Amino acid sequence: MTRKLHFLVSAGPTHEPIDAVRYIGNRSSGQLGILIAQAAQSAGHSVTLVLGPTHLEAPANVTTLRVETAAEMLAALSTHFDACDALVMAAAVADVRPALCADRKLKKDELGATLALEKNTDILAHLGRMRRHQVVVGFALETLHSADAIAEAARKANAKRCDLVVLNSPRSLGGELADSVSFVRADGSAEFVGVISKQDLAARLIQFCALAGSKKT
Ligand code: CTP
Repeated sequence: MTRKLHFLVSAGPTHEPIDAVRYIGNRSSGQLGILIAQAAQSAGHSVTLVLGPTHLEAPANVTTLRVETAAEMLAALSTHFDACDALVMAAAVADVRPALCADRKLKKDELGATLALEKNTDILAHLGRMRRHQVVVGFALETLHSADAIAEAARKANAKRCDLVVLNSPRSLGGELADSVSFVRADGSAEFVGVISKQDLAARLIQFCALAGSKKT
């Protein structure tokens, strides 16, 4: 028997504003994270979803906090992390933000040849350092192949103190399927999954967290 957990799930991209109309973002739809939140809720767990800007609707029956930027996502997740049993960090957080944001639309000549950027906090690494009893699942999106990608995912699992890192490829962005999936642990061990529907991947991750969460009590 596994016990019911409180899941904290992040999903979607973040948008980092340049001015009143432009932003830095990425092609994440947020679909996998939404499916993870729904799968957890359907399995009887309680769920808080922190959802970045996406055209997809927030799931009707899940407590959802909408955010725009990585800083807002960090604040929302930090508020809820202590009380959660499992964090699934499916969001595609923008790694950088413009150093300055204009509150009007800049003229193109004002944009300049280069845009000064600052690094965003690595939210998963930050929360990984704060974990106590929580199960922590991260993702790694790699264009590298096989052994190199697994080594990189294991490095991320170590650096960000994750129980599991879900390695996948950019072909997972948009669409119903996750591509080139492997489940990778900090010790470098990996289970190859390959192409899997996002629905099935969500269910497997909920099972993993429920089992790992039950072992921690
Ligand atoms: N992540 C995060 N905060 C960031 C960047 C990434 O929490 N500022 C999380 C993602 O949600 C994901 C994991 O870190 O669960 C790995 O993200 P990925 O983009 O694969 O790797 P990065 O650590 O950003 O490294 P790189 O882009 O250099 O491969």
